[in-house]
Amino acid sequence: MATTTETGIAIVGCGYVADAYRQCLPLHQGTLRLAGAYDRDPERLAAYRATWGDRAYASLDELLADPSVSIVLNLTDPESHAAVTEAAIAAGKHVYSEKPLAMTATEAAALRDRARAGGVRLASAPCNLLGESVQTAWAAIREGRIGKVLLAYAELDDGMIHRANYGDWRSRSGKPWPGRGEFETGCTYEHAGYALTVFAALFGPATRVTSFAALLVPDKDTTPPLAHPAPDFSVGCIEFESGVVARLTNSIVAPYDHRMRIIGETGTIEIKEPWDYASPVILRRPGEGRIARLIERRLGGGLGKRLPMARPVPFKGGRGKPTMDFLRGPAELAEAIRDGRPSRLDEDFAVHVTEVTEMLQYPERFDRPVLVKSRFAPIRPMDWAT
Ligand SMILES: NC(=O)c1ccc[n+]([C@@H]2O[C@H](COP(=O)([O-])OP(=O)(O)OC[C@H]3O[C@@H](n4cnc5c(N)ncnc54)[C@H](O)[C@@H]3O)[C@@H](O)[C@H]2O)c1
Repeated sequence: MATTTETGIAIVGCGYVADAYRQCLPLHQGTLRLAGAYDRDPERLAAYRATWGDRAYASLDELLADPSVSIVLNLTDPESHAAVTEAAIAAGKHVYSEKPLAMTATEAAALRDRARAGGVRLASAPCNLLGESVQTAWAAIREGRIGKVLLAYAELDDGMIHRANYGDWRSRSGKPWPGRGEFETGCTYEHAGYALTVFAALFGPATRVTSFAALLVPDKDTTPPLAHPAPDFSVGCIEFESGVVARLTNSIVAPYDHRMRIIGETGTIEIKEPWDYASPVILRRPGEGRIARLIERRLGGGLGKRLPMARPVPFKGGRGKPTMDFLRGPAELAEAIRDGRPSRLDEDFAVHVTEVTEMLQYPERFDRPVLVKSRFAPIRPMDWAT
């Protein structure tokens, strides 16, 4: 049984990411107690149990009936999120869901309403907002280190995943990285949250989204071919209530680039990798003089100063270990429940992020594209270049 300071959690969905969550459990000794796990696929559940030795529930009902479980971690694939979350809410459990909270904003809002009606809490990943690098950047902004924030850029380009050897990627308990599912869910649904949660926390609610999405590589060499490939590129501009404007790009086509830059009147803060809690946070001054402008052009951003972390990162990621503490989100929810305060990743926040994500990946669901009327004859290359 969980002690009075420990919150009982249980994992539903023992796939690729479940191992990453499980690896982070020792970081929460004394606060989170894992009661057990369940997967609807018995082989996957058995592989999880063989790796970690945790209790394997025989069914979702058995897990939901366990009184020692307070929070259900919904780590199923995105298409299964809503059904599992709904079942957990109905059983009176709090839920921490992997992202996206649901496949549509409407579905996400319905889950929030059910949770409220049932008197349980609902929160959603990602939790990189709670990590040391993002908190360090946020503190520097609050201290006025870059003046008034005007603009933010985030790139979440992952390179040509379909040409990479993703078939060989395995989690600790041997689960393959679910490439097919990721291609059908869409890289924006999978990744935009890592930037949107940060921007929304720092700049307040989004008020307007102007976006474009495209499917550039419909055939990603899968067998059988993808039934419904999602857009593999999106770009959107987001206006926040505070007046800050952000531009967010997602793709699994352009070369790997995860830079996040927050631009203020007197400087820029850059996080190289927002899903690494230990990622350096760099402060740069805008190049004003001729030499400074030259350096800025040559170095693609200019010289910068690495800011000291708000606190040391309490774990070492990399080399088979997660660079994020995946359980920091569930721990935040557990603490919020214990203290009777709102969670930093609460249900309104999760619904908001889901809505903006849907607008980025499927702009046509919200607005019709404006078609260009003018055309021109083909432009020939210079003769000397042919
Ligand atoms: N793969 C990653 O690197 C990664 C990283 C961060 C977050 N995530 C997120 O984590 C979630 C899971 O991703 P994944 O990569 O582990 O997927 P996965 O396909 O490897 O695992 C999902 C598991 O959920 C199980 N499942 C589905 N429906 C179920 C149900 N109703 N009851 C019980 N089990 C059920 C499946 O059998 C499968 O084992 C997704 O939301 C994804 O966006 C994935």
